[in-house]
Amino acid sequence: MQKLPVAVLISGRGSNLQALIDAAAQPGFPAKIVAVISNKKEAYGLTRAQNAGIPTYVLNHKDYPGREHFDEALHMKLLETGAELVCLAGFMRLITEKFVDSWQNRLINIHPSLLPSFKGLHAQQQALDTGVKLSGCTVHFVTKEMDAGPIITQEVVPVLEGDTAEALEARILEAEHRCYPQALRWIAEGRVRVENGKVRIT
Ligand code: GRF
Repeated sequence: MQKLPVAVLISGRGSNLQALIDAAAQPGFPAKIVAVISNKKEAYGLTRAQNAGIPTYVLNHKDYPGREHFDEALHMKLLETGAELVCLAGFMRLITEKFVDSWQNRLINIHPSLLPSFKGLHAQQQALDTGVKLSGCTVHFVTKEMDAGPIITQEVVPVLEGDTAEALEARILEAEHRCYPQALRWIAEGRVRVENGKVRIT
């Protein structure tokens, strides 16, 4: 079976990366992680990747004069790895339009809310502040507008009385670890189409 070569971009802990690594280790999983790239050398996700024998690269954004230069270097590195799909997994950088265009429909992200609610940082705290009774996670294609691309899959999680942001984060993370591998599987199986800005799973 020809597996879809995937790169995962991280900045930190990498629990979603771990979920993808674990899924990809299952026999018959249609994608293979060919590279993990971090903009932070201390990201724990790098250790997770190394433990799984996946090549890792650190591109420190501070080594580049600007966002365009960093994104260009990232783009070149991705081409070098042979990745055909890029998964953002806690990658804490805003990316340029040029980069998004280069990876159109081949760049996905996971966000800890039911988009379009609670875009941006601290989505769990935003949910608590708003008083919603349900939140969750979303896997979506990345477009120019932050946290707004076509939605591939979502999972709902209850917000419980007395929840702290940390408690809600932990509950949502469990859902994230199911959703991200599922979305990756569907894409690698060639079942995901974007039509008129919406995803159809065939
Ligand atoms: C997750 O909550 C993800 O939804 C968000 O950043 C966090 C990354 O966590 N984009 P981890 O590094 O995968 O553990």
